[in-house]
Amino acid sequence: MRIGVIMGGISSEREVSVQTGTEMINQLDRSQYEVIPILIEKRTDFLTQVQQAGIDFALLALHGQFGEDGTVQGALETLGIPYTGSGVLASSLCMNKHMTKMLLKTAGVQTPMGLYWQGIDDYDPQAVVQLGYPVIVKPNSGGSSIGIQLVKEEKELLPAVQKACSMSEAILIEPHLKGAEITCPILDGELLPIIGIRSMHSEWFDYHAKYEAGGAEEKVISLPPTIEQRVREAALASYRLLHCKVYARVDIILYQDEPIVLEVNTLPGMTANSLLPKSAAAAGIPYTQLLDRLIALSLH
Ligand code: DAL
Ligand code: MG
Repeated sequence: MRIGVIMGGISSEREVSVQTGTEMINQLDRSQYEVIPILIEKRTDFLTQVQQAGIDFALLALHGQFGEDGTVQGALETLGIPYTGSGVLASSLCMNKHMTKMLLKTAGVQTPMGLYWQGIDDYDPQAVVQLGYPVIVKPNSGGSSIGIQLVKEEKELLPAVQKACSMSEAILIEPHLKGAEITCPILDGELLPIIGIRSMHSEWFDYHAKYEAGGAEEKVISLPPTIEQRVREAALASYRLLHCKVYARVDIILYQDEPIVLEVNTLPGMTANSLLPKSAAAAGIPYTQLLDRLIALSLH
């Protein structure tokens, strides 16, 4: 089978995507697959590049806009090429944090409720005072924590909002919940071991903590059974509700022992350092086998 590893792309997470793709290329079992790297530089070249590669299957190593948001999934559907992970709807919903939250809320899954501004015209510092500082300002559609800022007082608000607005068509302002950051990788509708995250030099799990060596301590944790059950329910409910398929990673803050779902990642990072492969390895699924599972489940 000719497997195209599609990576790069045009989002702010391009660098992470190249790391994900490189690791996938290194780890794919060459006795089973012919591996074709496909590095996307321009959105408009996507269809030509993929068609010329003559692949049977697309292993998606893309993250963020035009990759994780349903557009690439739709293009591959049109070409009739099977691909890893969630379909168009789930990808599109999960890339939009506001839409994700609306759905989670209707299903009774807890998620930080804050403000949703569709651009700088909605700027309303008084509403943020009512929410209560400190707050987290984040692009509504983004990943890898790029553009996310912790704002402790009003004078920091406008520049943070301007920066977030320059990266996304809408932004979110959420209360900063000081809880434990955990993440729940899911494979084929089953929860893999939960990972706890302790950022070493920052107040939350930002880009540096995520991708720099020594930026964070990330390890499989065991929670008291009642809390673990709540976390499991919240993670799996989110996955099902949003129509995720094959795999995903649900990011959660454990706040006063309650799981508060921050977001669902439909193409979670698969770099050598990433959380989902770490969790799978702890469950006895090494990276190469994890790729076999992702391919087999996606073809199913
Ligand atoms: N958006 C990054 C790649 C992640 O969720 O792992
Ligand atoms: Mg994300």
